[in-house]
Amino acid sequence: MCHAQSKFSTKGVERLGIPEIWMADGPHGVRAEISWDDWAYAGWTNDSITAFPALTCLAASFNPELSSQYGFSLGEEARYRKKDVLLGPGVNIYRTPLNGRNFEYMGEDPFLASTMVVPYIKGVQKNGVAACVKHYTLNNQEHWRDKINVEVSDRALYEIYLPAFKASVKEAGVWSIMGSYNKFRGKYTTHHPLLNKILKADWEFDGVVISDWSSAHSTEESALYGLDLEMGTGTDGLGTTTNDFYSQYYLAAPFLEGLKKGDFPQSIVDDKVRRILRLMFRTNMSTNRPLGNANTKAHHDVARHVATDGIVLLKNKENFFPIKDNKDLTIAIIGENATRSMTAGGGSSELKPKFEISPLDGIRARYKHATITHAMGYQTGPSLYNEVIPPTLDLDSLKTEAIKTAKNADIVLFVGGLNKSHLQDCEGDDRLQFGLPFGQEDLLNDIYNVNKNIGFILVTGNAIEMPWLDKVNALLETWYLGSMSGHAIADIISGDVNPSGKLPFSFPVKLEDNAAHSFGTSSYPGENMTQYYKEDILVGYRWHDTKKIKPLYAFGYGLSYTSFTLSDIKTDKKVYTQEDSITVSCSLKNTGTINGSEVIQVYIGKPKSKVKRALKELKGFQKTNLKHSEESIINANIPVKSLAYYDETISDWNIEKGEYIVYIGNASDNISKKIKISIK
Ligand code: BGC
Repeated sequence: MCHAQSKFSTKGVERLGIPEIWMADGPHGVRAEISWDDWAYAGWTNDSITAFPALTCLAASFNPELSSQYGFSLGEEARYRKKDVLLGPGVNIYRTPLNGRNFEYMGEDPFLASTMVVPYIKGVQKNGVAACVKHYTLNNQEHWRDKINVEVSDRALYEIYLPAFKASVKEAGVWSIMGSYNKFRGKYTTHHPLLNKILKADWEFDGVVISDWSSAHSTEESALYGLDLEMGTGTDGLGTTTNDFYSQYYLAAPFLEGLKKGDFPQSIVDDKVRRILRLMFRTNMSTNRPLGNANTKAHHDVARHVATDGIVLLKNKENFFPIKDNKDLTIAIIGENATRSMTAGGGSSELKPKFEISPLDGIRARYKHATITHAMGYQTGPSLYNEVIPPTLDLDSLKTEAIKTAKNADIVLFVGGLNKSHLQDCEGDDRLQFGLPFGQEDLLNDIYNVNKNIGFILVTGNAIEMPWLDKVNALLETWYLGSMSGHAIADIISGDVNPSGKLPFSFPVKLEDNAAHSFGTSSYPGENMTQYYKEDILVGYRWHDTKKIKPLYAFGYGLSYTSFTLSDIKTDKKVYTQEDSITVSCSLKNTGTINGSEVIQVYIGKPKSKVKRALKELKGFQKTNLKHSEESIINANIPVKSLAYYDETISDWNIEKGEYIVYIGNASDNISKKIKISIK
């Protein structure tokens, strides 16, 4: 019951009618079938699916309703593929822009991640498929992920790194949770007091703790410190394969032996099995699970909608976008990312979609009159998990061709950024550089010399350095968008859909402006296999705001093709008790000529405090769609309890009395009004 029988399944007990459990990655679609005993793909021909946008994009939508549709559609696909557990979503907090796996997570703010993850989980689980929220916890970098020891204060742990997990348990009722590879305070997190104390006792989690693949390290710790189901281990504990190694798992024969010898009380195995059975009653032993479906139009529509809602317009000089389709127009699409598959690579989140519309194909499909030309500009090798494969084409020729193509066009759309290769946006290690890789900056400069009308379509799951920003008229962050990628990009650049995404993490000007990096190597990536989260609670915009370090693009920022004004911004009261909710209201008007959505954001800070505080923290947001000239009243209710800080002197949450400031705006660096309130 407590360990794997193959890479992604458990055995069950046939004699007792206890079924196998089948799992699949997560989190952006149901991964293709993997072989029984190793990581190779099984080569099935009926396992292609819908690739949904990466979770950074979902977070950037600031749209919890869409998150629900995303989760539900994905759950239907998991069910169709006969999976009982979907290994996702990921909610590790964005701490450094170098983390190879940020694209699988929901950004730098615990409130945003919590708000967005809950509907996703509920949506998946409506199908009788368990979501498995991961990676619990402090797996905030890939470099040395299986050894690094994280030292962080209780305060940062509770206020920054745990809330999205807590919301997954308390609000979404998630049925399983995955441990992580790293250590916290000297102990591996997969079997750690964090599990029994915080997750199972304090939060009353009644589901199954699943190890990450090969993150369990000993029988005693796995037995005693909260792990329920061991996956991915090899006999030697290193994830390598030998014959019948499943029976040698820490929670297999050695655990049974320990139980028989009386090293462990039987209550321990009872608890694990009870949890696993409970998961089964919720999933594969449930009598009324829907059957699911895959690759439906509805799923493709959800994927496209999430994509268009999450794309962020960062710069738009002289209304570069939207671009009208017009027969006298030549648009040059330059860059490997215009045609490269972005669902291939990245590690365990790699997908095998039934189709993937590339940016080039999407733009070609939308622009019927304009002439669309294309040049790759540069080439990189295929996206592999732990190897960098060199390019095969002649790079000089590619560049020459791109410059020629750009010169002959009216508009250049440079489709560049990162990809899903090792040392890019990929599991297993971190990025080595903050700037654009593969000589893209040189290429961009050369193109600029022949054509200054450039729009940059940025394909990343991470912030990057942009010393070239002045050279482009427009900049669109398009993330990794999955099956409908190119159509969604075309929707936005054509103006069929008005952009409304907001950044779920800050873009620092330079790497040292990021909190984790400002403290040097002891903070990131660590020294002697230990790292100290010296920025403490000041992660992301909390750092930029508090230390007055202007980011290039701030958390919560994103432009629209229309304009909005905020007026009549107020709180319902001036003085609140700890039991109250603060109602913030304002009137939002679309003052432009086209329809669009805006995200009103409410941050709260405490200027005078007995503890260290961020200048302000996101406590509420509301995305609203308005027709042109339409006006609407927006309300956000914020429980006073959510203003508590984690008080290390009492190991509990504490709401400080006194004056607070409510900041209302449409980006963390664009506040329309500040209102003073006080808490009794
Ligand atoms: C990843 C997990 C994933 C698991 C199974 C691990 O390497 O960290 O996120 O679910 O593999 O593929």
